[in-house]
Amino acid sequence: RPSIIVAPSLLAADFSRLGEEIASIARAPWLHLDVMDGHFVPNISFGPPLIAALRRHTDAKFDVHLMIDPVDPYLEATAKAGADHITVHVENAPHLHRSLQTIRALGCRPGVAICPATPAVALSEVMDLVDIILVMTVNPGFGGQSFLDSQLSKIRTLAEMIRESGRDIILAVDGGIDPSTAPRVVEAGATMLVAGSAIFGKEDRDAAIRALEGPFVE
Ligand code: DX5
Ligand code: ZN
Repeated sequence: RPSIIVAPSLLAADFSRLGEEIASIARAPWLHLDVMDGHFVPNISFGPPLIAALRRHTDAKFDVHLMIDPVDPYLEATAKAGADHITVHVENAPHLHRSLQTIRALGCRPGVAICPATPAVALSEVMDLVDIILVMTVNPGFGGQSFLDSQLSKIRTLAEMIRESGRDIILAVDGGIDPSTAPRVVEAGATMLVAGSAIFGKEDRDAAIRALEGPFVE
């Protein structure tokens, strides 16, 4: 079994004290950053200036999830702000192939996120270009929603597509991940768990991260 990466989602943190919040999750090697525009998704969060400010306060790698339309004009600013992964949505990237190539040319690892209503086959022609596939297990826009069981079969399908590609692609899940859903998505093939409320909603952040890692992390 591949080792599992837990990536806390900053969306659930206390925005008035982000420096301390980030320090509290130092156990996690990745930080998931949700950029929302109030247009592609019905919520507004933060953008590249905030990511750049955080970059100076942590050694964590930045997994940036762009929920914005259009997305292409902001790829360069996101890379310059310090992103390691840049993930765009298959639903709003009309030239997805080009967007993924642009992300790699900017020195970041390209990812594609897929909403609950979009079938796995939407990614079939970009398997050679993606390094991360992010399966939304809630409808994007808000933290604290319930995990959608219906997405488990899509996780399995994508895990199989990844095996067939022969490439080393991270299969991430985002939304409603907690200690009860984590083992189910890992069983289905997920290798990266994004979690907001299940980590920042808990007093003891180390314990919350460990509860998601389960027995899967060496
Ligand atoms: C939702 C975001 C998620 C969100 C997950 O659109 O992409 O990253 O923070 O929050 P939880 O873990 O609380 O469901
Ligand atoms: Zn996200």
